[in-house]
Amino acid sequence: MLPYGRQTIDEDDIAAVVRILRSDFLTCGPEVAAFEQEFAELVGAKHAVAVCNATAALHLAMVVAEIGPGDRVVTTPNTFVASANCAAFVGATPDFSDIREDDYNLDPDALEGGWRDDTKAVVAVAYAGQSADMPRIASVARERGAVVIEDACHGTGGGFCHEGTSWKLGGHPWADMTTFSFHPVKTMTTGEGGILVTDNDTFAERARQLRAHGIVRNRDAFRGFGDPGNDTLTEQGPWVYEMQELGYNYRITDLQCALGRTQLAKLPSFVERRREIVSLYNAAFQGIPWLRTPRLRNQSDHSEISWHLYTLLIDFAKLGTTRTEAMAALREAGVGSQVLYIPVHLHPYYRETYGYAPGKCPVAEGVYEQALSIPLYPKLKQADLQHVISTVKSLG
Ligand SMILES: Cc1ncc(COP(=O)(O)O)c(C=O)c1O
Repeated sequence: MLPYGRQTIDEDDIAAVVRILRSDFLTCGPEVAAFEQEFAELVGAKHAVAVCNATAALHLAMVVAEIGPGDRVVTTPNTFVASANCAAFVGATPDFSDIREDDYNLDPDALEGGWRDDTKAVVAVAYAGQSADMPRIASVARERGAVVIEDACHGTGGGFCHEGTSWKLGGHPWADMTTFSFHPVKTMTTGEGGILVTDNDTFAERARQLRAHGIVRNRDAFRGFGDPGNDTLTEQGPWVYEMQELGYNYRITDLQCALGRTQLAKLPSFVERRREIVSLYNAAFQGIPWLRTPRLRNQSDHSEISWHLYTLLIDFAKLGTTRTEAMAALREAGVGSQVLYIPVHLHPYYRETYGYAPGKCPVAEGVYEQALSIPLYPKLKQADLQHVISTVKSLG
């Protein structure tokens, strides 16, 4: 069975994890900082804060941006639930703006047209790896005082072109913070894992602190225990630390970061192989009337995108079948597929809590009806790819 996504683990990855198993630190050791530094350099960001998963990174982004009750956070419905849940975690109202028909990402016109004054953050997802129109989204959001978070969980190692200049996700000026996921189906993996990158010193410092319970160990930054008049902690021994705000245990381990470092070294080759497969699929699926291949919003991005998903839009009515039947036929032939995504506002939690209903984001709801992602990962062999192509074509 060929799954829709799968990790690439080689002997060097295994050796890296074993090396940590034999070392002094399984967690809270030197691999975390080394991974963060290498990742920040790769994307061209000032700071990187690695955490246990990207959901935690999104949550921290909300906290450090001081989003809370009474605030609205707008994201795309065409995403994994975490992109919206992060707003609910901090007591804000997650809201959804519709997507464009070409890149399946937030539509800046819809965002601007539906803007509400209580919107304090926009979470722009790079669906499948293709970045949303970040320059326009940033101008809409920033003019109105909102913070911009790019959820680049699909796009590790990728970028885009703007007015002739190439930018990396995580390293361009149109997001205040960017999050990446290292779940095994993603472009590179640490098992579970995520990272928050930013150029903002305050955001980075607070995220780092909140990742570990809101605890501060740097005496120069102590707020209470440095006071000689303090009645309980008169002895300022080496054990003393301060908890200055309510944080979390969102730490990532050294085992994961050692794996992250070997994966990072191979990221360019993963991205290139994924792009090669996308080109092959695009060519193979041309001219089929019941099927639409992924589109580029900006043709010059072709060599910049790090593709996580290959999502076809299939006109099942034209095919005379249902998606369930088509998926079963693919599965029968050993080809896995996945529907990404059920529009987030239509999940029971969102309907029941916020009153959202079908019709709120018609473009996203229409895309959902036809979306089917087929296998995309570096280890697919030429014979696998030919098998996927002929099996998909045989649906018609
Ligand atoms: C767009 C998007 N955002 C956030 C997440 C959450 O990532 P994680 O599983 O690392 O928490 C995912 C994971 O599937 C995702 O696809």
